[in-house]
Amino acid sequence: MVIARTLHELRELRQKMNGTVGFVPTMGALHEGHLSLIKRAKMENEYVIVSTFVNPTQFLPGEDLDAYPRKEKADLEICRLAGVDGVFVPTEQVMYGEDESYLCAPRIRSYTLEGIKRPGHFDGVLTVVMKLFNLVKPTKAYFGKKDAQQVMMISQMVKDFFLDVEIVPCDTVREKSGLALSSRNAYLSAEEKERALALSKSLHHAIKLIKNGERDTDVIESEMLKILNDVDVEYVAIKDRLLNEVPSITVGDTVILVAARVGSTRLIDNMWI
Ligand code: PAJ
Repeated sequence: MVIARTLHELRELRQKMNGTVGFVPTMGALHEGHLSLIKRAKMENEYVIVSTFVNPTQFLPGEDLDAYPRKEKADLEICRLAGVDGVFVPTEQVMYGEDESYLCAPRIRSYTLEGIKRPGHFDGVLTVVMKLFNLVKPTKAYFGKKDAQQVMMISQMVKDFFLDVEIVPCDTVREKSGLALSSRNAYLSAEEKERALALSKSLHHAIKLIKNGERDTDVIESEMLKILNDVDVEYVAIKDRLLNEVPSITVGDTVILVAARVGSTRLIDNMWI
C-alpha cells in the first residue's frame, strides 16, 4: 500500500493505476462505517484510494476542528488490512493555498437542515471534494447515506460541473444498539451513548408508523419528537430525496432526518424510505 503525502506522490500513484479507481474520501478516525465504503469500492473497482484529511474549511469557528479524533497509525493499518492500494494523507498546506478559488454549495438547499446551524459547511465540503476528485480522478466515489445532505450536495456538484465520476451512496452502518457509527461517538460518555439511542429509535418509530399506513409528515414528526425528549433536538425533518419539503410521505422518495445534541456532542442520523 502506498502512502502519498504530497501531490507529487499522489500523482505518481495515480499514474500507475491502469483501470477503474474507487475513491473513499474520509477525515480519518476510521470505523466500520468507513470500512463498508472501502469494501464496496474494493468490490467494484480494480484499484482503491482512500483519503484521510480533516478538512478545516468545513468546520465553522467554534466547532470541533481541534478536538476531532486523529488516528493516522490505526487508519493506515485499517486501510492496509482492507487491501487499499493507496492512502492520501495530505497536510492543510498541501490542500490549500492563499486567496484561493472556493466553491459555493447551492444557496437554498445547503442552507437548510445542517446548513442552518452550520452555514457555509457545505461550501467547505464541496471545495475539498472537488480538489480531491481532480487529484484522484476516480471512476466511482463512495459516500455514506448517513450524511444524507452531503451526498446530495456532492451529487448535485457532479451534475452541475459535468464531472466524470459516479457517486455511490452507501447504507449506514450501525452498532447493534442501533446507534449510527460516527467518529464523533468517541466524544460520548456511557450515559450519553445510551441517550443517543433516541435518534435511531425515533427513526425506527417513524418507519413503523409509515408501515402502519401513516403518511402525514406533521404527525410523524411530532411522534418522533416525543421519543427525542431527552436530547437537545436541532431538527427533525421529512424531505424528498432532493431535500424539498413534502407534506406527505412517498415511499421510495423520502428521507427522514434528525440532528440533536447529546451533552456537547452533535449527532445526525436519517433513514431513507
Ligand atoms: P467522514 O465523516 O470521515 O466520513 C467519510 C465518509 O464515511 C462519508 O461519506 C460518510 O457519510 C461515511 N460514513 C460515516 N459514518 C458512516 C456510517 N455509520 N455508515 C456508512 N458510512 C458512513 O464525511 C466526511 O468525512 C467529510 O465531509 C468528507 C466527505 C471526507 C470531506 O471532507
